[in-house]
Amino acid sequence: MSKLVEPHGGSGLKALLVSQSERAGKLERARGLTRVPMTSREVSDVLMLAMGAYTPLEGFMDEADWRRVSLEMKLENGIFWPIPITLSCDQGLADSIQPNEEVALVDGDSGEILAVMAVSQKYSPDKALECEHVYRTSDAAHPGVQKVLEQGVINLAGRVECLAEGEYPEKYPQLYVRPAEARQMFIENGWSRVAAFQTRNPMQRAHEHLVKIAIEVTDGVFIHQVLGKLKPGDIPADVRTEAIQAMIDNYFVPGTVIQAGYPIEMRYAGPREALLHALIRQNYGCSHLIVGRDHAGVGNYYGPFDAHHIFDTLWDGALETQALKIDITFYCKRCFGMATGKTCPHGESDRIHISGTEQRAMLEEGAPVPPEFGRPEVIDILRKYYAGLTAE
Ligand code: ADX
Repeated sequence: MSKLVEPHGGSGLKALLVSQSERAGKLERARGLTRVPMTSREVSDVLMLAMGAYTPLEGFMDEADWRRVSLEMKLENGIFWPIPITLSCDQGLADSIQPNEEVALVDGDSGEILAVMAVSQKYSPDKALECEHVYRTSDAAHPGVQKVLEQGVINLAGRVECLAEGEYPEKYPQLYVRPAEARQMFIENGWSRVAAFQTRNPMQRAHEHLVKIAIEVTDGVFIHQVLGKLKPGDIPADVRTEAIQAMIDNYFVPGTVIQAGYPIEMRYAGPREALLHALIRQNYGCSHLIVGRDHAGVGNYYGPFDAHHIFDTLWDGALETQALKIDITFYCKRCFGMATGKTCPHGESDRIHISGTEQRAMLEEGAPVPPEFGRPEVIDILRKYYAGLTAE
């Protein structure tokens, strides 16, 4: 019998998407409400709430939760939560909304109504405090900080009822797996100990090695990729999916991994985001999250193992899902194989590391990518993608 980790918070999955039978009526009513446009990040958060990936949240955070989460990584009720989940708007719109008024939450790009929210509180967050604690920097060049700085000046809090899931389920019918569905898949596979591999990149050999280490010590790995918006230069989801599938088909034992995606938008908050990634995977039923080098980091804002260390600061019972901490992974010419900083005694000059920028340059120029770095089936797909970009 498979026994998966319980959803976070101890009271079952909370998926905020209303039942199919209620949706049309509620949507009709919502059309008459004040519309609050959402950024792409806020849209991704609504979709995460809809599917239960943010269990036990019931909506967007009020000031007490926002502050305690920023400072102490706890909701007001003491439950662990590492990153504020908030909705903002400008002062004029906030002033027009009455206390407890129900508003329609709308995708700012498509105009689609995704949810309704009863506004229980309006508050003006101290963005500098949020950035310093959550992102460990207030540098506007950090892409996550930049988004916080661009948010409206007022946060709206309240319980959310989700009425739609946007375009993802149709766009990614195989990949768009909700927590309850993932749990069902794991049970059908007879998996209890499941490691999640969070990624926003096509898989190269370093990633392959991380996943294979995890397969050795668990029942299977959930290769779980970001479908939400990425930063410019990151590889789009459809190309990534195809590349990951080529890796799975050619280099993995059938039945040891499941490829899926989820609608989060990266915040690039490094260590704090690693914790959020683990919490989300607990809701998905994963007992472990692979945490490698500079997990969810960007530039040089975080040390390579800050995301490992932050798990050691959690109190007992904060989170059931554990970090599977893995050192820097590479091919070593003297080991004649993949290794990590923990298993290879040789020096940097024997190791093949290629950054994303170097790989892109090689692919764009048609230069060969060393087979020690990438699998040819994966490289071919990426080369076609970059050739298309250059032709544009
Ligand atoms: S992200 O969410 O952490 O930004 P990314 O695709 O860059 O996604 O990395 C996926 C996972 O692989 C993360 O846990 C990251 O730490 C790990 N990782 C990527 N490359 C390496 C590497 N060479 N050595 C060790 N871990 C790595």
